[in-house]
Amino acid sequence: MAPPNVATPRMRDPDERALVELERVSKSFDVSPPWLERTLQRAPRRALRAVDGVDLAIRRGETVALVGESGCGKSTLARIVVGLVDASGGVVRYDGSPLYGAGVAADAATLRRARASMQMIFQDPYASLNPRWRVGAIVAEPIVAADRSRSRASVAERVATLLEQVGLAAADRHKYPHQFSGGQRQRISIARALATAPALVVCDEPTSALDVSVQAQVLNLMADLKERRGLAYLFISHNLAVVHHIADRVLVMYLGRIVESAPRRALFAAARHPYTQMLLDAVPDPLRPKSRDAGDADGTGNGAPRLASELPDPLDVPAGCGFHPRCAFANARCRVETPVLLDVGDAHRVACHAVAEGRVAPRVAIPIAG
Ligand SMILES: Nc1ncnc2c1ncn2[C@@H]1O[C@H](COP(=O)(O)OP(=O)(O)OP(=O)(O)O)[C@@H](O)[C@H]1O
Ligand code: SF4
Ligand SMILES: [Mg+2]
Repeated sequence: MAPPNVATPRMRDPDERALVELERVSKSFDVSPPWLERTLQRAPRRALRAVDGVDLAIRRGETVALVGESGCGKSTLARIVVGLVDASGGVVRYDGSPLYGAGVAADAATLRRARASMQMIFQDPYASLNPRWRVGAIVAEPIVAADRSRSRASVAERVATLLEQVGLAAADRHKYPHQFSGGQRQRISIARALATAPALVVCDEPTSALDVSVQAQVLNLMADLKERRGLAYLFISHNLAVVHHIADRVLVMYLGRIVESAPRRALFAAARHPYTQMLLDAVPDPLRPKSRDAGDADGTGNGAPRLASELPDPLDVPAGCGFHPRCAFANARCRVETPVLLDVGDAHRVACHAVAEGRVAPRVAIPIAG
């Protein structure tokens, strides 16, 4: 098995204790063909390792952005954090107590407290809202689930407050999701996520389905809520301009592993890992027309970088450093030895032999304005 993948140094000071901490978390999906086919073809079972031994910690009030190409394991990792996917290995801790993982049996009270405290917002607000329910019922559901003894009047009052906090009207609770625009629907998702007063909101591409101007409004709302409520975010995005705008710390993921972890400024001013440098090189130039831009992967202008080479088959991950077939700095060591995250100073960590050997210069230009 590859060595562990530590994105944040272990915290010893109890005051610095992470809100959520992952230790050597992995997830393998069984992608074997059906039994009969396997038997006839004498084919072995196949496992796809979507997350590979990740350690990370999110502190209270911190926005941690997770970036990387499609299929590198971002959503799987996010779903493990909120308990929507079971990890195959490792442990997830909430406020110091083991919550999920192999051999972990958290008590009901801890589970209830942690679930209320960690909510998730998805990319497509329409698909994540029940179209048959009125907005009031959608936002009220987690409030009632957390406290069944609460009176109807008090639930209605809380729903009205939440809708107003996300920029909607209290009267909107009588409408259905289809009566709202995409940006408004994402506001409803945010109101629902806030209903249980969470400490962490996991956001999986929350604005990538929205128009650019609406994206900015939703991002500003999220930044404002963070300020007012001290929220922490785990924020997944393909769009490095959005990450530059919102993150305190950035994690770069490649084939299930964290390959670079740095405070936002350090990452954009001095990216170290060759893969991070490749992602930054592919960021669209704001002066070029969006649909013709090299960074506009699918012509939608959503800001996803388009890279010169393809991610390897996740069922056939290269030995050593998974990035070596695409890397201009690869040498013989890279083909056999998996690099671990090493501290390069100022809370900046990189998993790359060439960086450790001093063969890669930091990328000093900030490619995104601001
Ligand atoms: N339920 C599943 N069964 C089998 N394979 C899965 C499952 N869910 C995810 N995978 C695989 O795990 C890998 C990581 O998927 P994941 O959705 O986490 O990637 P991602 O980084 O979120 O990608 P995107 O940016 O496209 O959303 C991919 O190869 C994907 O095909
Ligand atoms: S370890 Fe080797 S192959 Fe991997 S990124 Fe660094 S130089 Fe490239
Ligand atoms: Mg995803």
